[in-house]
Amino acid sequence: MSTLNQAELDRLLAEAKAADVSNADALEAFRIAHFGRQGLLKDLNERFRAVPGQEKREMGQALNAFKQALQAHFDEAKAGLTAEEDAQGSGADHTRPSGEVPLGSHHPIRIVRREILSIFDRMGFTVADGPEIEDDWHVFSGLNFPEEHPARDMQDTFFIQRDPDLLLRTHTSSVQVREMEKREPPLRIVMPGRVFRNEAISARAHCIFHQIEGLYIDRDVSFADLKQTLLVFAEQLFGSGTKIRLRPSYFPFTEPSAEMDVYWGLETEVDKRITKGTGWLEIMGCGMVDPAVLEASGIDPNEFTGFAFGMGIERIAMLKWQIGDLRAFFENDIRFLEQFTAAS
Ligand code: PHE
Repeated sequence: MSTLNQAELDRLLAEAKAADVSNADALEAFRIAHFGRQGLLKDLNERFRAVPGQEKREMGQALNAFKQALQAHFDEAKAGLTAEEDAQGSGADHTRPSGEVPLGSHHPIRIVRREILSIFDRMGFTVADGPEIEDDWHVFSGLNFPEEHPARDMQDTFFIQRDPDLLLRTHTSSVQVREMEKREPPLRIVMPGRVFRNEAISARAHCIFHQIEGLYIDRDVSFADLKQTLLVFAEQLFGSGTKIRLRPSYFPFTEPSAEMDVYWGLETEVDKRITKGTGWLEIMGCGMVDPAVLEASGIDPNEFTGFAFGMGIERIAMLKWQIGDLRAFFENDIRFLEQFTAAS
């Protein structure tokens, strides 16, 4: 064992400073090699004991300086690594799948829309779409609305000033016309969309709302098919055993026409309020497509018959969750919308 001297300490310090301390494992190996029980310092301490008495003072100071420099180098390397880890997220494993990121909740209208479409999807209906800005033909004339029909009135319909033939569709029945013009029967489609009516906003009415339209055209489609389809729909949406009834009604584009009610119940005060004391709730208009409408769209009414229906999505959402004010769907109050997280 050679005698400890300054030159060797200088060399050892240079070596230590050149050692790899670039990651946690390397730093730990460094610590063991230098400060560990079998490490360099232990070795140097032993050799210090062999230093002749007259050199001890000087050599002791040199050794102390060496130890301090080594410790300072180690502390610095460690601090540097910790800062780096913090910046990277404390050495987290970035290959692990991330946790759930909260993305908000679906709008209740969207939830109900999806539920309704999936029921009709299972019955073989496909989805069709049409424009919100329409012309008179697709919203009114093609659907057999007489020239003087009140729905065309400025009070009900938003017209586009630049072009008197253009308007915001007041119902999704316009998509029926587009599809009948475009395609050959058989047709089995549902048509969701936004509609516009010039109405004062209140708890029960809004100038913008959403509908889902249905159309089924084939040979020998009868009113019994309409009723059975709507019964299956109501049972899927509101539960099996749901009772429905069809009340005679009028629409220019269906003959005969009906309103469909669902039996809600008449036990509680809420039942009475919601159903206006009847126990029944109206959820849609429907009927057999008027032969004049088929003809106007180029479908031979002697060969084909069909049924159509149209429902308001807000209406059904109000029933489903007993929401008393239609405006809640349009106000985007986060406290209202967040309540539908579980349901989505
Ligand atoms: N379009 C009608 C409405 O908006 C509903 C309807 C659709 C009625 C299809 C019959 C057939 O009130």
